[in-house]
Amino acid sequence: MNKELSIKYLKEKYNLNHIISQSLIPRNKKIYCNVELDEIMRNFKLEKPKPFVKWVGGKRQLLKQFIKLGLYPPFSFGFNPEKNTYFEPFVGGGAVFLDLLPENAVLSDMNFELITTYKVIQQDYKKLISKLKIHKKNNTKEYFLKIRAQNLNKLSDVSVAARFIYLNRTCFNGMYRVNKSGGFNVPYGKYNNPNIVNQENLENISKVLQDIKIKHQDYKETLKKAKKGDFIYLDPPYAPLSPTASFTAYTKEGFGAEQQIELRDTFYELHKRGCLVMLSNSNAETLVF
Ligand SMILES: C[S@@+](CC[C@H](N)C(=O)[O-])C[C@H]1O[C@@H](n2cnc3c(N)ncnc32)[C@H](O)[C@@H]1O
Repeated sequence: MNKELSIKYLKEKYNLNHIISQSLIPRNKKIYCNVELDEIMRNFKLEKPKPFVKWVGGKRQLLKQFIKLGLYPPFSFGFNPEKNTYFEPFVGGGAVFLDLLPENAVLSDMNFELITTYKVIQQDYKKLISKLKIHKKNNTKEYFLKIRAQNLNKLSDVSVAARFIYLNRTCFNGMYRVNKSGGFNVPYGKYNNPNIVNQENLENISKVLQDIKIKHQDYKETLKKAKKGDFIYLDPPYAPLSPTASFTAYTKEGFGAEQQIELRDTFYELHKRGCLVMLSNSNAETLVF
């Protein structure tokens, strides 16, 4: 199938959204993400944007499983991107959002630096790229420690975002861990050639974020706005499988047993409201915190 025909076919068959981060498909041609669309994109060597951070618990590798399980994408359950909104209130690296690329979405997270970075990518990615180039040029262990020690309150939003991406790309295993006062404390990762400036990907993410609402807030606040027919993906910090396995360091507040129970109740309440809800968690048998 040639390019024109593929787009025509996709337009007719689906109610297409904006996979337009690539120049092939103009922004006003609406394209739904779908397995078939993925295949056509592959044929034309097109790629959807990828998460801009390595994020513990990132779901990029699990998308195929969601599809296999029949849980995703949500179109067969009645989600209509022209009318309904996608909510991702524990957005992290945003792997599901960047796959679904919905027309209307609300993305949120309690991690302040992460959300500041989303907003900067949306509004000011060119300045961000310039700052990332400076970090790339200066990258050494000493420089990393100097940047890590910076006081966030004294930095502009663009500097917060550049620092966040730089530390994420150069720290040990791309981890995010903060001490009790919220200071980032992951050591230097000693990578030979860390990918600090992925310009094309940041540009593409900026395009797909243009009409999207991005908020720094607790998931419950975000979900107040969810209505019947909206699709919500809940991907909280996981309930630990043992007390020592606990990894709840995305935010200084953590996410304990009480929050897990509250989330369960929220899930049920959203279901009763008529929302389409998908949730991931560990298969911990009991809540051990
Ligand atoms: C498992 S990660 C999400 C990963 C994401 N799905 C991805 O693909 O990268 C959980 C996220 O929940 C966020 N978080 C923790 N407590 C929260 C809260 N009370 N409300 C909203 N977000 C919270 C963390 O900052 C973290 O980004």
